[in-house]
Amino acid sequence: MMDRITIRKPDDWHLHVRDGAMLNAVMRYTAHHFGRAIIMPNLIPPVTTIADAVAYRERVMAAVPEGSDFRPLMTCYLTDRTDPDEIERGFRGGVFTAVKLYPVGATTNSAYGVTDFEKIRPVLARMEKIGMRLLIHGEEASDPSIDVFDREATFIERRLHPMTRAYPALRIVLEHLSSKAAVDYVRAAAPQVGGTITPYHLMLNRTDMLGYGIRPYYYCMPILKRERDRLALLQAATSGESCFFLGTDSAPHPVAAKLAMCGCAGLFNAPVAIETYAEIFDRAGALDKLEAFASLNGPAHYALPPNDATITLERGDWTAPDEVAVDGPEERAIIFRGGETVAWRVVSA
Ligand code: DOR
Ligand code: ZN
Repeated sequence: MMDRITIRKPDDWHLHVRDGAMLNAVMRYTAHHFGRAIIMPNLIPPVTTIADAVAYRERVMAAVPEGSDFRPLMTCYLTDRTDPDEIERGFRGGVFTAVKLYPVGATTNSAYGVTDFEKIRPVLARMEKIGMRLLIHGEEASDPSIDVFDREATFIERRLHPMTRAYPALRIVLEHLSSKAAVDYVRAAAPQVGGTITPYHLMLNRTDMLGYGIRPYYYCMPILKRERDRLALLQAATSGESCFFLGTDSAPHPVAAKLAMCGCAGLFNAPVAIETYAEIFDRAGALDKLEAFASLNGPAHYALPPNDATITLERGDWTAPDEVAVDGPEERAIIFRGGETVAWRVVSA
């Protein structure tokens, strides 16, 4: 039995750190363990210009603890009106690493998202030409006749598959895979399409969320699915296949926003993320595949070098903290697995 593992430092290819007091409260958790992270642009208002992203990057860097080598990779929020020239300038200038597509209404702060896929054609064509990655929240949310549990599969069929045909050289990340349908699709569309997988989609199914009382802290988008979907995700993540890689989708919210008559989607897992992945891989007998998933496959999809630094994890129980304090009226954010025993811990990073 392996009790200790050293791997190249992981990257988080999908992360929400918010802004202001929340950013200052949560940034350190990711910076401690990860080399880089793709920073989601769904602020209010969203990050849609080079100037927005430069300013946001400065605020993110100001929240990174001193001495950390962590590097944020910024993204541009795609709208119906995004200008391809702005995207290209931001990419060539090293500000934008990728563009993020939210279908309008699909999740938290997606009100400015894409309403008409015809309108984004010039941007996609330009991204294909310059070799820039498109990150997709892959859910068909604008058609109320689509069941919430089918939104991902429907999006793949109606939107994603045609997009891969129309722009064969456009590299895509389908984010936070949640279903067997998504796993199968990514595998078939690789290497053009890669997929990130969260720790909570690997750990939980919809019965965990709804079967023993309603657990608003397990509510996220895409919504947790059946056990057979979780098993397909687990098999994919632990397979070592290069199209699957780490993206936590850690998404802190103030308590009042989660525990409301209409609560918002998102689960704050950064404080337990790499430890939870290690625990999941260990339980699956696949610790030898953790480095590929966490530290190698993502950079390869982005054509970036992996990190030189390493991280060491060790088997050993610790109790996850319940919450982090946030300055001001937001007060606190509840942590995924808070109060639970986590079976792996980081000993050096
Ligand atoms: O559950 C989610 N929360 N899914 C998303 O796609 C966005 C995120 C958020 O920003 O809170
Ligand atoms: Zn997200």
